[in-house]
Amino acid sequence: MTYTLERHSLEALREALDALERGFASLPPAGGAVLGVEGERVLREVAERLHDNYPYFHPLYAGQMLKPPHPVARAAAALADWVNPNNHALDGGRASSRLEKEAVSELAAMVGWDDHLGHLASGGTFANLEALWVAGKVAPGRKIAASRQAHYTHERISAVLGLDFVAIDTDRRGRMSMEALEEQVRHGEIGTVVATLGTTAVGSVDPLPRILELQARYGFRVHVDAAYGGYFKLIETLAPEARAAFDRMGEADSVVIDPHKHGLQPYGCGCVLFRDPSVGRFYRHESPYTYFSSAELHLGEISLECSRPGRAAVALWATQRLLPLVRGGEFARLLERSRSAALALHARLSSNPRFVTAFAPELDIVVWAPRASSAAEASARSRAIFEACARRGLHLAVAQLPVAFFDHDESHVGSGAATVACLRSVLMKPEHLDWIDRIASILDEAADEVLTAPVVAA
Ligand SMILES: Cc1ncc(COP(=O)(O)O)c(C=O)c1O
Repeated sequence: MTYTLERHSLEALREALDALERGFASLPPAGGAVLGVEGERVLREVAERLHDNYPYFHPLYAGQMLKPPHPVARAAAALADWVNPNNHALDGGRASSRLEKEAVSELAAMVGWDDHLGHLASGGTFANLEALWVAGKVAPGRKIAASRQAHYTHERISAVLGLDFVAIDTDRRGRMSMEALEEQVRHGEIGTVVATLGTTAVGSVDPLPRILELQARYGFRVHVDAAYGGYFKLIETLAPEARAAFDRMGEADSVVIDPHKHGLQPYGCGCVLFRDPSVGRFYRHESPYTYFSSAELHLGEISLECSRPGRAAVALWATQRLLPLVRGGEFARLLERSRSAALALHARLSSNPRFVTAFAPELDIVVWAPRASSAAEASARSRAIFEACARRGLHLAVAQLPVAFFDHDESHVGSGAATVACLRSVLMKPEHLDWIDRIASILDEAADEVLTAPVVAA
């Protein structure tokens, strides 16, 4: 049996297109571009060119943070493309702007906010940029602080915004060190602390309750970067410290959650939310050529980008309609499977004498290193196992991480070095849970091949 791509949604899309067409039935007939025979040929050529991809949609892709969109999101996005709305101004995307406001309100409700200001953005980077731009307006001249495990773009965004950036050390589990943070905030120069709920490399959750304690003592703004981790607020199986952090998410001043990571959306969908809607004043601007159709707030009036794809809002709205963002709901249960998959893989690797695992995953990312006598040897082996797995159809990722993350067994990944290249797996697909045996056995075979061959340390 061979793998088949989901295509029932194509039939549903055809019917939905008929329904869409009925809404425009009073228009006189008109021509327009057609695909044509040559277009069909080009499309087949595109399919050939797309073969040069890892199979991100398949459970044997267990590497980076990539998750296939839900069929309803894919079909709704395609349906919207026939209209191609632009959610900048209401006359460019009337229906899709309404859908965006509804979908964003549902995300805000998940955070715990009725009253809020928010909109979709092209992704996590732009959403974080908007949050830090507002932070810089609220506290001009004060610095941005984020942990060394925060997404690399925070430092770059700060530079773009002309704000100084301070990197805060992490503990041995990749969470922001509260001692190191207090050392910085006590001088009063930090205007905003970025708490990452779900770091990109290892999925660690910064201790938000303790950051909020420091906020009460020293006074600064808190931005939560939950671009990857945000939806885990809905699951029932978090460990107590992560649970406590997600429970306090609503006390942050701003939050970023990316529907194009765990929210089953095609790329091009991040979301920024502000607790205080009055920060909308910083966005105020004139656009005499766009804001003429309605006195109602246009989404372009509360976002830094001008044109924004209405398709992203349509796809997100459809997905949340099908899978509402509620604790105990189907969407939450799917996320629980990802976390269970990560715990299961971590348990398998912990009992495998060839590997050294880091701390147990807080969300659904597992990192581990081959046991070796030096960090250079462990790193070379990680890269060799990554290749050997890929030859067997299993696609993992490699990350350069502090040796300290492997604290219980540091000597076996090479004490003395600061970092080691290790293997990393983001088990984002609910199906991953059914594939752990297969993933572990391919990994074993690959390790057999690599660990019995002499490895030349880089
Ligand atoms: C925690 C976190 N923040 C921000 C980003 C950047 O998001 P994007 O790649 O959508 O711009 C990522 C990406 O992985 C992330 O994991």
